Amino acid sequence: MRVKDRVAIVTGAAQGLGEGIALRLAEEGAKIAAVDVQEEGVNAIAERLRGMGREAAAFSTNVADKVQVQALYEAVAAKWGRIDILVNNAGITRDAMMKNMTEDQWDAVLTVNLKAPFLLIQAASRYFAEQKYGKVVNIASRAFLGNVGQANYSASKGGLVSLTRTSALELARYGVNVNCIAPGPMNTPMVKTIPQDVFDRMLKSIPLGRIGEPLDIANAVLFLVSDEAAFITGQTIFVCGGRSIGAALV
Ligand SMILES: NC(=O)c1ccc[n+]([C@@H]2O[C@H](COP(=O)([O-])OP(=O)(O)OC[C@H]3O[C@@H](n4cnc5c(N)ncnc54)[C@H](O)[C@@H]3O)[C@@H](O)[C@H]2O)c1
Repeated sequence: MRVKDRVAIVTGAAQGLGEGIALRLAEEGAKIAAVDVQEEGVNAIAERLRGMGREAAAFSTNVADKVQVQALYEAVAAKWGRIDILVNNAGITRDAMMKNMTEDQWDAVLTVNLKAPFLLIQAASRYFAEQKYGKVVNIASRAFLGNVGQANYSASKGGLVSLTRTSALELARYGVNVNCIAPGPMNTPMVKTIPQDVFDRMLKSIPLGRIGEPLDIANAVLFLVSDEAAFITGQTIFVCGGRSIGAALV
């Protein structure tokens, strides 16, 4: 098992990529703190992990709220005594062309997608520094390269890439690895909100000819938090079927 007995906080774990990441890390022996605003969903995931014979607990936490984040860390540390892995996966979209984008749409996305990972990494650093061990994986998006109708989302994910790099520099002294994954379109509830014609065009722009599955991301996360990736930090890895290459197909 590649992460046996490691304590992992996975945000946005009630569905989609977060659910896949929690399952994959649990399969490889991690104890999972499954975190989400959707209380029922996150309870169900924790129950499922316990059914697999793993240790898991559900936390109904808004990751953008500093007080709730602090309470989350205290509860996880009280339960398992340490925090080894943090996966910042919770994220939202509020799409609109920039000329129509409201301040609320901008603020909501920047708060959940960028401020929350900052709060979670900051809270984790205390434990990582004491343990001289820690792994962080931030789930950004290929959209950080730019995406029509997603000024807020793209900027939040670009910020997350930068936060990854600076966190990697600051936490390296404690032996902590901080990396980022930039997924392309994935088969999750989030992608089901995209209009069909936009989705069809998007599919054509993916060299490998399909959208990704949660397991594609979960396997990349598992690698980055495993000992095999011990010398990798501050990096952003595209898991997007080649869409980030940007070249036209012939
Ligand atoms: N689906 C895609 O195509 C795609 C592509 C690139 C990047 N991503 C990124 O991957 C991550 C997961 O995406 P997904 O497709 O699984 O999304 P999703 O909408 O299916 O799941 C996101 C989860 O985050 C939770 N969440 C939202 N706000 C929260 C908050 N404030 N506190 C706690 N939990 C909160 C939601 O309740 C939900 O369970 C996101 O960061 C997203 O931006 C997704």
